[in-house]
Amino acid sequence: MNLHPIQLFDAESSTFTYILCAPGEKQAVIIDPVDHNFQRDVDHLERLGLTLAYVLETHAHADHVTSAGRLRQHTGALAAVPSGCGIPPAELQLVDGDVIRFGAAEEIRVVHTPGHTAGSMCYLWRGNVFTGDTLLINGCGRTDFQSGSSEALYDSVTNILFKLPDDTLVWPAHDYKGQSVSTIGWERQHNARLANRSRADFVELMANLKLPPPRMIDIAVPANRNLGLPHSV
Ligand code: FE2
Repeated sequence: MNLHPIQLFDAESSTFTYILCAPGEKQAVIIDPVDHNFQRDVDHLERLGLTLAYVLETHAHADHVTSAGRLRQHTGALAAVPSGCGIPPAELQLVDGDVIRFGAAEEIRVVHTPGHTAGSMCYLWRGNVFTGDTLLINGCGRTDFQSGSSEALYDSVTNILFKLPDDTLVWPAHDYKGQSVSTIGWERQHNARLANRSRADFVELMANLKLPPPRMIDIAVPANRNLGLPHSV
């Protein structure tokens, strides 16, 4: 059965946070929580009577600070992060093909999709793919910092994500235009950066974006490598 996650939005960084739970289940997983939304997210979990099994990160973010460490302290959840993202305090260092189990029979499949960062992961659950900054709605994450590679991103999207079933729901880590969800079929056909574009053309397009540095990169990346906690903790 396909299920939808609970999608929560951070207006400051345009970040989506997701809560995954199945009907009748008491355990949940949260993906990419944001520091200043800690109480909002805790309130959601409490309102729904959910206990948090895992806090997942899709990568070490450069544009906001995670609340993974605080959520872990508050709820007893385990932190699960991509092994290639340099986040040593997390209990689970995920590699491609790992399966995260929670509730009675829920399974999240871990897919390594380098490109936005070398360690970036996507997560598959019940017909949904949580794509982080690898694949955005009608776009993709930038590849010009944090060990990014436009070649790797192209290969991750076209060889892995676009091979998922067409009706797989795409839930990105960000949207800047008010969109909230897409499908693999739509993105394969219409994504402005990746649909019907050669690898060489994509690499050239990404090289010419000339984006300003992320506003918070110097603060956010070191913080996120410690799950958003001060380094003394
Ligand atoms: Fe990112």
